[in-house]
Amino acid sequence: MAVLDIHLLGSPVLRERATEIAVVDDALRAFIDDMFETMNVACGVGLAANQVGSTQRVAIIDAEGQTFAMINPRIVSATGKESKEEGCLSIPQQYAEVERPALVRVKYLDYNGNVSELQADGLLSHCVQHEIDHLNGVLFVDYLSSLKRN
Ligand code: NI
Repeated sequence: MAVLDIHLLGSPVLRERATEIAVVDDALRAFIDDMFETMNVACGVGLAANQVGSTQRVAIIDAEGQTFAMINPRIVSATGKESKEEGCLSIPQQYAEVERPALVRVKYLDYNGNVSELQADGLLSHCVQHEIDHLNGVLFVDYLSSLKRN
């Protein structure tokens, strides 16, 4: 395993839309293992491939006692609204309240390529949405007013 370099705000890859993964194979799993090591060293609760310079459509989560990879994740339902403070390993030392749907259902392929579905609320819901945003080139600061962003 290897610790990968985390790209910071301003790096173009953070603004790219990650592309669907066709095959879940050992090469992808090795990359996911590296992502986990990178996230753990950085003490993060989530990490998307864009943040380590890849446009593969995969993100990982370690929040609320749940640790998993989401390959080609897709939000299938979103209800309610909730504000929570968010940060991002690509935007160090910046935190802000972000309002998002409170409850989401997400479908994805897991580490072994099996179709999985998860219902998430609370912090986990925000984390899942934050990481899927990364795969669409969206950062949490995009939700802030220009006043707060500055
Ligand atoms: Ni982030």
